[in-house]
Amino acid sequence: MEANPILMAKITVSVVIGGFIVLLMLLYNLLVLKPKLQRQDPEMVKKISLCTSLSPGKPSYLSKDRGPLLGQGILSSNGPIWAHQRKIIAPELYTDKVKVVKQRTEASYEKDLLQMVHEGAKSCNDYYGLSTDSSRDKFIVDNCKNIYFAGHETTAITATWSLMLLAAHPEWQARARAEVLEVCGDSPPDANMLRNMKTLTMVIQETLRLYPPAAFVIRAALEDITFKDIMISKGMNIQIPVPILQQQCDLWGPDAHKFNPERFAHGIVGACKTPQAYMPFGVGPHVCAGQHFAMTELKVISTLILSKFCFSLSPGYQHSPAFRLVIVPEHGVTLRVRTA
Ligand code: HEM
Repeated sequence: MEANPILMAKITVSVVIGGFIVLLMLLYNLLVLKPKLQRQDPEMVKKISLCTSLSPGKPSYLSKDRGPLLGQGILSSNGPIWAHQRKIIAPELYTDKVKVVKQRTEASYEKDLLQMVHEGAKSCNDYYGLSTDSSRDKFIVDNCKNIYFAGHETTAITATWSLMLLAAHPEWQARARAEVLEVCGDSPPDANMLRNMKTLTMVIQETLRLYPPAAFVIRAALEDITFKDIMISKGMNIQIPVPILQQQCDLWGPDAHKFNPERFAHGIVGACKTPQAYMPFGVGPHVCAGQHFAMTELKVISTLILSKFCFSLSPGYQHSPAFRLVIVPEHGVTLRVRTA
């Protein structure tokens, strides 16, 4: 049988077009979607958590795509500029500093965080071309925006989720209130009292397990780096989905999706088979600089509310956690409140 030349030509054209489309799809995958490797392995997370090298650093898209929000502040920078920022900011958020804020405002002998950032902008001229007034101003503005973004929304949202959970679990609300009244009596909470709030700490830890405001811990390989058996080439991004990790039944037990602060009765080590899988404040050298400050704020807010009010969920509350840079209750949290 002789080949039909028209049919052959049609077949050739469609093979060429088909091949071209496949090639385009491959290129799209490679250049736009970028290849992804997904690995579900707590041991891998443990290795990343315990890594003290600065090579898993912050991805460049943080300062590019989110430039207007983050600029080149501590949340998005790497290398010596990050180290300089961390050195200025982190010590200002240590628990001891938080404790002396009251004395400090009265005596004004110690510098505050803004003054430290201001001085930090002046003292790093040599490193990063911060030699002009505008680049120094940018250093100050970027870091103020970073501290505001890192510190405000995260803590406010955690307080909100925590009130929602206590409203939905009256038995835990009663336990937490009893503790507050026992430890504080009629006085406002001080640092020692806050340290003794075991139940409240467990409630906040469990809130941060179920609703960690930061949905991902993100890193970029700044050089080739190997975790367990996988070599991650320079430039690749690493994302750890925190809420998924923190609710895995094989790590946390069959009630992993339930609110059960009791699991933290013996600390994080007692709560999870792989304690490194608990990371609401991130991991490694970039771990949240304000975590102790945040815990203090959360305990103070909860103590003041619990000591004065009882609350339950309003029938209008719609449960809908949504990802808006941080994990928020999409429709807010509406509570019914009465004096305790
Ligand atoms: C519940 C409240 C908070 C949560 C859940 C939280 C969580 C986080 C997370 C997940 C990171 C990224 C860590 C990583 O990449 O490994 C981070 C970084 C950071 N947080 Fe927080 N944060 C909270 C409150 C605060 C507060 C109150 C402050 C300061 C006032 C603060 C300051 C920072 C700073 C400066 C960084 C950047 C650290 C660095 O890259 O060196 N955070 N936080």
